[in-house]
Parts: sequence; structure tokens; C-alpha cells
Amino acid sequence: MIPKETLGKIDGNRKRYVEELLEFLRIPSVSTYSRHAVDVRRAAEWVFNHLKRLEFHTKLTETERHPVVYGEHCPYPDGPTLLIYGHYDVQPPEPLEEWTTPPFTPSIREGYVYARGASDDKGQFFTYLKAIEAVLAVSGKLPINVKVLVEGEEEIGSPNLGAFLKSHQDQLKANAVAVSDSSQFAQGTPAITYGLRGLSYLQLDLQGPRIDLHSGSFGGLVANPLQALCTMISALKKPDGSIAIPNFYADVLPLEQWEREEMASLSFDENQLKEYLGVEELVGEGDYSPMERKTARPTLDVNGIWGGFSGEGAKTVIPARAGAKVSMRLVPDQKPNVINALFKDYIRSLTPSGVRVQITELHGAEPVLVTRDQVSVKAAARAIETGFGKAPVFIREGGSIPIVNLFKEVLGLDSILLMGWGSPDDGAHSPNERFSLEDFHRGIRSAAALFYELAV
Ligand code: BES
Ligand code: ZN
Repeated sequence: MIPKETLGKIDGNRKRYVEELLEFLRIPSVSTYSRHAVDVRRAAEWVFNHLKRLEFHTKLTETERHPVVYGEHCPYPDGPTLLIYGHYDVQPPEPLEEWTTPPFTPSIREGYVYARGASDDKGQFFTYLKAIEAVLAVSGKLPINVKVLVEGEEEIGSPNLGAFLKSHQDQLKANAVAVSDSSQFAQGTPAITYGLRGLSYLQLDLQGPRIDLHSGSFGGLVANPLQALCTMISALKKPDGSIAIPNFYADVLPLEQWEREEMASLSFDENQLKEYLGVEELVGEGDYSPMERKTARPTLDVNGIWGGFSGEGAKTVIPARAGAKVSMRLVPDQKPNVINALFKDYIRSLTPSGVRVQITELHGAEPVLVTRDQVSVKAAARAIETGFGKAPVFIREGGSIPIVNLFKEVLGLDSILLMGWGSPDDGAHSPNERFSLEDFHRGIRSAAALFYELAV
């Protein structure tokens, strides 16, 4: 059990913790933009220095793109060890004009801090650093060994972290890994996530004629790559909304009855969600509830499309090129490489003569299911109860965290504790992303309690 003084310490330092979080949030560490590489590095160094101040053995390791920060405090040679994973990179903030205050000028309004990365994942990850600080301040040492692994490439699919895990297998040995990069079921209903969807993300580039052409002089003679693209994209789904790629569903694990019942028992307000989303109807597979559809069923979405003329007025042109970004959320036991191959075969079969298609794999993630019946999961549940004053519910999430599957495959870790402090309406990846300061505080309390719950 966590000492009362430690919780008192956390309560007493709330203001300072928030000020420090704002500092972290001011760094525009957008990993996908090469023009922000310097800022991504600054965020890595910020975390590195923070861990150093906590007297962790700390190392910053270069990768082909953004650095990995690792720190450890392991006073017990054979004691239980917790690995903590987080990411210091963020998604692009655009569209900027939709932010009430700029994305990298954090602003506090009505108990929320607004900034890109506030919830995903800087604010959530930072709770662990403050928990460590509070425990060390009160007790001088942590009750267990703690290893902290923070990367700057999660939002681009963690292309280099897998190799880091493989080359640091011994160093990263642990009994459990804690990840706070998801959310509560709803604000005030904390959750442990036991499932994540995977991802296949691809880009299509179509080439028709060599150059843009006058549509009067050449219309009727050449294939229009933009139109071909639209036809191909329409063929990815059937009229009922299901995905038309042959064999796409072959490896989908059906939901079990107990799980469907459990999901149905979580109160889910469809009208409230529609209002939040600004839509009149939810769509999708009729045989599945919205909860099931957004967490445990696969999807296909066009994320972006381009080509031809979209400026002011009219231009009579047949475009030379067109393209699209398409992603698919995957569920157990679908594999990104199998799905990529099915997608490519199908796209090639749909490509009409007169256009050429190039397909690029952008990134992927394996879906994850965590066994719930584990001692460490029970410890995590008690920690959350200490932090939030309420026992967590168990949920699956629709998002992906690419490295999580490798914790199992490379490090042999079954105890994967996905404890989200955020909220589904935090606006991750959207304008006006925010994080409740109350949840930030509860997260710190839960993280500190977890160290004690895992100590045997
Ligand atoms: N924090 C999210 C993952 C997440 C989202 C978990 C929603 C639970 C609910 C993470 O930072 C993220 O956005 N991941 C990307 C991964 C992708 C870029 C490979 C995602 O899911 O799009
Ligand atoms: Zn994210």
C-alpha cells in the first residue's frame, strides 16, 4: 500500500507539476514533419534531463530518426521490475485555425490544459515521472525496480523501436510494462484496456498521362487517374459497408458471448456520442453494437486524397497524377503483412489499363489482446482505485500502439498494463486537444500506487 505521506506529497505539489507539464507541452515535437526534427530532439532531451534529475541512470540513444530515451532505477538485483513506456512525440496540430489557443502555447481553461500532446501522450506519460519524484522524495527509494522507455516515433509507427528492444533485451527485462496512452471508458470511469486494434496504412500513387492535359484536346483518349482512383476506392467497400478485399475477414477472431455481454453492460450513450461527433447517425456493421464496432471489428478508411485541380474557379484539365492514403484498423488475429498483401493484390486487380499504380506501405501495428486474469492486472486495478477512487472497468480500445505487441514478442512480457488516464473526448489528434488536470493528478496518484501494488 502506498504511504499516506506520498499521496499527501502528490496533492501538495499539484501546481508545480502542472507548470512543468506546460513546459513539456511547449515543445512542438511533431515526429512526422522533418522540419520539426530539432524540436523532437529537444523533447527527448527534456525527458532525459528530467530522468537525470530523478537520479536515474539515463541514456539517450540515436536511431535513424528520433532518439530513444531510457532510464533506470534498479536498487533490487532480483526484485520485481516495472518497465514504463511512453512517447514524447505528437501528431501534427493542423488545422491551426480551429484551435482556440495555439497548439504549442498551452492554455488552462475550466480545469483542462489545452495543447497538442496534452493527453496523447505527454500529459499521461509525465504522470510517471512525477510519481517517481514524489515516492523518492518521501521514501528515498522506489519500492520496486523501475525502467523508463520513452520514444519519439510512436505517432509514425515506431519504425526504430523494435530494433532497440531487440538490441537491449537484457537491459529491458521486466515483470510488467505500464503504458498510459489510452483513455478511461468515460471521464470518471477509469479503465484497464485489454485490447488494441492493429493498423495497416498504405499510400496509392496513380500515374496516367505524362503531364496534365487539356481536357478538350485529349479528353476521350486517355484514362483519368483521379477518376480511376475514385472507382478503385469505391470498390474497397460493398454497399452494406463491409470491406470488399477478398479474404480480409479470414483471420478475424469472433467476439465471444461473455465479451459481448460485458461490452453491452457498459453504459454507452449513443445520443451523447452523436452530439459530440456532430453527426445524425452512426454507421457500420448492423450486427455489432457501436462499442463492438469501434474496438473489436476491423475498418477501412480513406485518410486523404489528392489530384487534379481544386483551386478557385475552373480549370479544364485531365490530371497526370492522383493519390490517396488508406488505412485499415485490424483486430486479433489479423496481421498487417497479410492484410497489406491482400490489399495490394486487390488494388492491382482493380487498376484499369491506362494508369499505373504504385503502392507504398506507410506503417503498421499488430493488434493486441492482454490476458486479464493476472496478478499484475489486479495490482493495476487496485492502483487505479487508489488514484481515481473507483475501480476500473475493462475495455478494448480502437487505437493502436505499435510497440506493445513487441513487448510480448521480443521481451516475453505478458503483463501489459494499459491504463489510460485520458478521456475519449480529449480530442487526441484533433484541434483543441486537452487533458483534465484532475485526471492528470489522479494519474500521478495511480502511477505511484502502482509501484507499491507491484512490490511483493
Ligand atoms: N494514444 C494513441 C493510441 C490510442 C488511441 C489508444 C485511442 C487508445 C485509444 C497513439 O498515440 C496513437 O495515436 N497511435 C497511432 C498509431 C499509428 C500512428 C501507428 C494510431 O492509433 O493511429
Ligand atoms: Zn496518438
